[in-house]
Amino acid sequence: MKTINKIDECRVAMQELRKQGNKIGFVPTMGFLHEGHLSLIRMAQRDCDKVIISIFVNPMQFGPDEDFKKYPRDIKRDTSLAEKEGVDYIFNPSVQEMYGQDHKTTVEVKELSSVMCGKYRPGHFAGVATVVLKLFNIINAHKAYFGEKDYQQLVIIKKMVDDLNLDIEIKSGPIVREEDGLALSSRNRYLSGVERENATILYRCLNIARDMIAGGENDLEKIKKRVLEELEGNKFVRKVDYFDFRDPLTLQEKRRVRRGEDGEILAAVAAWIGNTRLIDNIMIKV
Ligand code: PAJ
Repeated sequence: MKTINKIDECRVAMQELRKQGNKIGFVPTMGFLHEGHLSLIRMAQRDCDKVIISIFVNPMQFGPDEDFKKYPRDIKRDTSLAEKEGVDYIFNPSVQEMYGQDHKTTVEVKELSSVMCGKYRPGHFAGVATVVLKLFNIINAHKAYFGEKDYQQLVIIKKMVDDLNLDIEIKSGPIVREEDGLALSSRNRYLSGVERENATILYRCLNIARDMIAGGENDLEKIKKRVLEELEGNKFVRKVDYFDFRDPLTLQEKRRVRRGEDGEILAAVAAWIGNTRLIDNIMIKV
């Protein structure tokens, strides 16, 4: 496995792989790797000849009051995990290497970026789209892998690829969870012991919604009210940013289940457990 810090070096290495006829799979990450990341790496390995991951905590996607500085970083541990998985390359550039002194361009995927998490994290998805496009341009992989954990991010990246005619195939992998249901996230590391225990409430609430829909309830506003009561009744939940039902493709909000018309409905939640903002979602078959 080789770690590359420089853009030019990365381009040359990837061009060389292409020349030799390899299919290149790319898994973008911000590091502090866990089983969620590793599951995407394994998917890429099944589909492709060579796998490159990026590890870059992207300042552009963090708001001024967010956790860019304290976001967990451990490149040593990440390198050994990636090596064990059989990753071929790690691209680990510095902020200076990625943005220089005078970066002025951003990519905005309109509408999709201003709902759900976008409403509470202005500029976040522009930061994500911009860095992902830069990484796509540097690496020029055949396929890139994203987790359904960040469902809105996945929709936005697919839309960007489509709108800008990017020559890359976007693949997605299911959410990897702890045994008690908590979705793996690098941010789980911020949680105290009791917060960690109570963090399962997000997944529990998503399942309450699923059960109510399976039980025949069509009024999504009613389900939302029931779930918000549950969330807000937990003293470790400091704030609920949203609990929403959305169309999985357009991310438009849904207020009623239309049996026979709706295939699947996305239920998504963002809530603060103490000072940690967690997100989760499930797809509900109608
Ligand atoms: P990061 O949070 O490190 O996540 C990297 C990838 O791993 C994303 O596609 C994310 O959806 C996926 N992932 C995270 N937790 C997962 C889980 N529990 N199960 C399955 N997949 C999971 O997402 C980012 O980084 C950044 O925004 C990035 C795309 C790298 C741009 O900076």
